[in-house]
Amino acid sequence: MSISRRCVLTLAGGLLLAATAGVQAADKKITLGFAQVGAESEWRTANTQSIKQSAKEAGITLKFSDAQQKQENQIKAIRSYIAQKVDVIAFSPVVESGWETVLQEAKAAKIPVILTDRAVSVKDDSLYVTFIGSDFVEEGRRAGKWLLDNYKGQGDVNIVELQGTVGSAPAIDRKNGFEEVIKAQPRFKIIRSQTGDFTRAKGKEVMEAFLKAEGKKINVLYAHNDDMAIGAIQAIEEAGLKPGKDIIIISIDAVKGAFEAMIAGKLNVTVECNPQLGPQLMEAAKAVVAGKQLPKRIVTKEGVFPMEVAAKEFPNRKY
Ligand code: AHR
Repeated sequence: MSISRRCVLTLAGGLLLAATAGVQAADKKITLGFAQVGAESEWRTANTQSIKQSAKEAGITLKFSDAQQKQENQIKAIRSYIAQKVDVIAFSPVVESGWETVLQEAKAAKIPVILTDRAVSVKDDSLYVTFIGSDFVEEGRRAGKWLLDNYKGQGDVNIVELQGTVGSAPAIDRKNGFEEVIKAQPRFKIIRSQTGDFTRAKGKEVMEAFLKAEGKKINVLYAHNDDMAIGAIQAIEEAGLKPGKDIIIISIDAVKGAFEAMIAGKLNVTVECNPQLGPQLMEAAKAVVAGKQLPKRIVTKEGVFPMEVAAKEFPNRKY
């Protein structure tokens, strides 16, 4: 056989093998290891449901773990997914920093990693394939913009801020986005800012402390999520004040609980953060196993819902 004929046959054989491998990759039942943050909020419950439901619908075997808001638990879960040789690892990082080592371990084991909901801060972005989730800075900007556009009173505006989990991407970004916008009007001042860890109980506790320290000086509450705002509403009522009137309340997520509070006139606006990331995650997991290239960042589309539209929008809410 001539050398050129042998080359053609070898190439054809190679292509056939590659095509068969492609079919096998497409047919292979994928196992996805998902390390969730916890169950700290109504948003997180909806996010977990979306991931579990979409995995079922996509025919993906899901290994799921709840880190109870602790980074060390997430790292343990990721290491166990590496040891189990899952096809893809996905997680919503509790905090931004401290991921290099475990992500390098996943890379060394050739297991692709997808980030959902929250970002990590790493120098080498080849440590993950893509990040699917909201633009938290933009959510903070939207909250600030709503305040500047809608606040009716004159003079200084004293704002108290309930931050999310310390070191988490949404807490850092929502603070930055909000501050970036309100600094255009120096009469808007954040007089107190503390973490409420994204939970109702902590939101209530910290708001009680704000009220004790500042009392009627407080004009606005900016809460990094609806759950903390709902906890704070209780504290405001217990202090004999009217939430939504005596204190204007702005929060983020747009969960059903926030719509109920808006319909009751106790919350002024919620900025949407969509937790239904499951379908996009499953699509991305399939694509990555099939060897397809994914964009490094997939941003979720979201809106803003003020109190005035709450009753009309409520029946359309999915979470
Ligand atoms: O990372 C998303 C944030 O985490 C949501 O806004 C909050 O409710 C959740 O706990």
